[in-house]
Amino acid sequence: SKPYVFLTRKLPDDIVNILETECVVSMWEKEETPPPTSRLEEECRKADAVFCNVSDTIDASMLEQAKQLKVIATMAVGYNNIDVKAARNRNIRVAHTPDVLSETTADLTFTLLMATARRIPEGIDVIRNNEWGAWAPFFLTGKDIHHARLGVIGMGRIGELVAKRGIGFDMDIVYHNRSRKPQTEKAIGASYVDMDELLKTSDYICVQTPYTEETHHLINRQAFQKMKNSAIFINTSRGAIVDENALYEALKNGEIQGAGLDVFENEPIRADHPLMSLPGVTALPHIGSASKQTRWKMAEMTANHILQGLRGEKIDHEVQL
Ligand code: GLV
Ligand code: GLV
Repeated sequence: SKPYVFLTRKLPDDIVNILETECVVSMWEKEETPPPTSRLEEECRKADAVFCNVSDTIDASMLEQAKQLKVIATMAVGYNNIDVKAARNRNIRVAHTPDVLSETTADLTFTLLMATARRIPEGIDVIRNNEWGAWAPFFLTGKDIHHARLGVIGMGRIGELVAKRGIGFDMDIVYHNRSRKPQTEKAIGASYVDMDELLKTSDYICVQTPYTEETHHLINRQAFQKMKNSAIFINTSRGAIVDENALYEALKNGEIQGAGLDVFENEPIRADHPLMSLPGVTALPHIGSASKQTRWKMAEMTANHILQGLRGEKIDHEVQL
């Protein structure tokens, strides 16, 4: 009999059809809300493969009962929501979607950087609220992007593409990474600096690291205190890389000027989240990879990863421990 695949979100027919050629597909019927944990748990017990995303937590206790499960394929590059070690111990293969979303996510990182620097959300609000008065010399003045220093923390694929965009704006690029990237330094014209120097001298700071035990609250109170008071902080990676309370305090106390955020410690956030009360914050609902083309490719890739895994073939993008 055909293997059974559970999709944690409603997906377009063309994606489902890829799977239905070889599998029996069951799908959570909603596009914008995840299944309750109990349903995910129940499906993990029955399924041969699960098609999931960043908001589905698949932990060790869930995997303990997943006797049939062979493949977990997430429609995302980040897989911190999946206990990969526990999966490995049960011979469950985990797949993700790197590379395909890097350019799109770098675009959004730069969008946030520019929107925060030039106070775009405040400008939009001025018109919506009928508050546009006479032209005023220093009305809604922001911060220059061109020729400013961009500090990239984490020089992986997305970090490189963010740096490359900065070069187009004549920015001075510095980066910090676990290991130096001499090729990137040459290709892009980025300089390696230690974390302290990056924090102390950058006008814009973007974090582009994966979320792991080592990067949990990597950007904490001390880090914000080192930043320039005029610094703008951008996060499109994972919320918990940043101590959100420390970020709130830093913005409130004027230790930094602004923040552009696509990710939060507990998503989704609501309008009453403390950060939303601060005018220097540009907030987006985790849409880094959300272009039509890229999301479509990610969904296709994820479906193919499942077929590859179920056939016992090499998976194009298997998470390696
Ligand atoms: C999105 O956050 C992803 O990891 O792809
Ligand atoms: C602004 O629109 C200017 O002309 O300086």
